[in-house]
Amino acid sequence: MRELEPSVERLLDQHLGVARDWLPHQYVPWSEARDFDGPLGGAAWEPEQSALPQAVQDALIVNLLTEDNLPSYHFEIAVRLGRDGAWGTWVHRWTAEEDRHSSVLRAFLHARRAVDPAVLEELRMRHVAAGWSPGNWRTPLHTLAYTTVQELATRQAHRNTGALCGDRLGESLMARIAADENLHMLFYRQVFADALQAFPDDATTALADVLCDFAMPGTGIRGFRARAARIAAAGVYNLDIHHEHVVAPLLRTLAVLTASGLGPAGRRAQERIGLHAERLQAQAARARELYERQHTSR
Ligand SMILES: [Fe+2]
Ligand SMILES: [Fe+2]
Repeated sequence: MRELEPSVERLLDQHLGVARDWLPHQYVPWSEARDFDGPLGGAAWEPEQSALPQAVQDALIVNLLTEDNLPSYHFEIAVRLGRDGAWGTWVHRWTAEEDRHSSVLRAFLHARRAVDPAVLEELRMRHVAAGWSPGNWRTPLHTLAYTTVQELATRQAHRNTGALCGDRLGESLMARIAADENLHMLFYRQVFADALQAFPDDATTALADVLCDFAMPGTGIRGFRARAARIAAAGVYNLDIHHEHVVAPLLRTLAVLTASGLGPAGRRAQERIGLHAERLQAQAARARELYERQHTSR
């Protein structure tokens, strides 16, 4: 951690130089909002009130619940990376930026009556109460590898949700959130690139562990499998996107598969990553074929 601190200082300065402040309240259509049932005696939510396709509703719910779990992510990252010095400044700044994502998304969904607010709240309670833990990924290098992959995956999911929602305000909100995730990804990816230089074997091993066992957050959400299937079919997030837009570009940018100068452990990890990428590509192709066959036979 001490060895990477100068990188963190430099990348934090770079981040603060390019991150544009934005105002979440400006992305909520307040004039369309109406009181709900309950203490205000308004109208309860009805499914016809949502103008969004089912898959987009699913994606927004899963994306929002993931953002809702920020306390767990903050805890894990703060514990692994520390709360002192440049690391601590980054962790807190990152948390402040992330925190606006859940609040603005929820306000947007409520004002638009885009999803069932009671179901959303029930899912949030269960999801946040279950917490998130990184499993076996207990070293700072695992944390850096995970956050790099996760920020890029989240950027793609938000961006694709926006593109498919058929709602111009929703699209610009999702693009705005995706722009935050992009800068987070750049920060973590650049720290991780420096980690690969400083600790090539350990960093490559951490990346192999994370990539080979990676799942989009949300697997603990009730009804997640059905939602994930609709999200995949709509092209918001699926194996193809995970391979084409997340894993392959990261491996290219970090030159993981072509790195030389690795010891035996690093070479083994490099091999695991190569095999994983090949398997992922084959699985993605099979899933695409299956989907196309189902679609044409309908
Ligand atoms: Fe976020
Ligand atoms: Fe992020």
